[in-house]
Amino acid sequence: MSKTATLEFDGKKYEFPVTVGTENEIGIDIKKLRGEAGLITLDPGYKNTGSCESAITFLDGEKGILRYRGYAIEDLAEKADFLEVAYLLIFGELPTKEQLNKFTNDIKEQSHVDEEMKKILDGFPKSAHPMGVLASLTSALIAFNPSSVDVSSEEDMYKAIVKILGKFPVLAAWTLRKKNSLPLNYGDEDLGYVENLHKMMFEKPNKTYKVDKAVIDALDKLLILHADHEQNCSTSTVRMVGSSHAGLFASLSAGISALWGPLHGGANQAVIEMLERIKEDGGDTHKFMQKAKDKEDPFRLMGFGHRVYKNFDPRAKIIKKSADEVLGQLGIEDPVLDIAKGLEKEALEDDYFVKRKLYPNVDFYSGIIYRALGIPVEMFTVMFALGRLPGWIAQWREMRLKKEPIGRPRQIYVGENHREFKALGSR
Ligand code: CMC
Repeated sequence: MSKTATLEFDGKKYEFPVTVGTENEIGIDIKKLRGEAGLITLDPGYKNTGSCESAITFLDGEKGILRYRGYAIEDLAEKADFLEVAYLLIFGELPTKEQLNKFTNDIKEQSHVDEEMKKILDGFPKSAHPMGVLASLTSALIAFNPSSVDVSSEEDMYKAIVKILGKFPVLAAWTLRKKNSLPLNYGDEDLGYVENLHKMMFEKPNKTYKVDKAVIDALDKLLILHADHEQNCSTSTVRMVGSSHAGLFASLSAGISALWGPLHGGANQAVIEMLERIKEDGGDTHKFMQKAKDKEDPFRLMGFGHRVYKNFDPRAKIIKKSADEVLGQLGIEDPVLDIAKGLEKEALEDDYFVKRKLYPNVDFYSGIIYRALGIPVEMFTVMFALGRLPGWIAQWREMRLKKEPIGRPRQIYVGENHREFKALGSR
């Protein structure tokens, strides 16, 4: 294969090197485009723009493949636990027993936050969306951990990483406890990461905490499935903010805000709200399919479609199977699961969806499991954030270790040309 690409513009030819990834993805390296040809590329939404070379996650949207550090998502979801996957994403290899023990203990050591943080949480109204509160609290953590900002060595980075992995579940749990008017608490050192998170979220002051193992296993699997997804909107945000050396926690706070939107992680909340709306409307899925196809109607089938997956989303396959299993194990019948399956069947046979390669994405069935696990709808995207945390950290660490330059795209200006200023009285 030719190792260069040629661009012809205005009678001149320019050669650019071509980069080939380990899975044979090909990119034209245009770093010198502006310097040599005076041109930039224009790509709103970055649909064809590679922002970095990354060794963390590989996905093939046509074949429905997703791998973290080379390991298939199907294997990791089945055989690993969340902290093992977090270690793998961040440091590149599956941990040995000793490495995992150290990582787990270092995180436990950090699983508390400054008491003053409670005052900040206190200032929010109960009606506040947990994602907004979580983004704010994550940012507020910087004030109490200033050493996490200026990370000049891998050791400094490690300290910041275990700090946030320890403190983030506490903050996430507190956003729910605040909503439910429950006293703020801490977890239990003797529990695993996911069970501890669950305990912090749901423990009642007057009851001994107990949980079904099926609940923890399902939650662990969901967190793994959400743990990374290469250069999506929130991850690109984390890398972009981090590229100014703003620090890990500030970058994560920005990532949480990006994830909140209904076109991204917020879709899991939007899916359940949509399914409930269809149920309340009498369950006529066909009517809502027509709405989704009508270009005059802003309604979209939430949980359908993906920027990259054009065949199927492998995470959705695992989650659909898991939804059936979890609801069965917990003895829950949820009518919206049938509505979801009906919608999926109809969409997969519909010309509009087939032509545009729109398939259920990770968010289509995840909300049904969250609901079965007793997690309120407004917390769904917080659960996504808890899962995505290691991915964001891994991407931030990679970006900093590679000393990537500050992210700063160009633009094509289409506004007014130079105009003479007119004084207020003469306008
Ligand atoms: N319902 C109806 N039509 C759709 C949908 C949908 N869910 N998704 C895409 N389309 C249509 C869209 O109108 C367009 O049609 P046309 O070519 O006639 O203009 C075509 O399909 C291509 O869509 P697009 O919006 O140009 O594609 P995109 O890559 O910019 O957007 C997306 C991807 C995920 C934002 C979009 O599919 C969407 O809005 N889906 C619903 C929200 C959702 O489920 N988001 C979660 C994504 S997965 C998890 C995550 O990222 O966090």
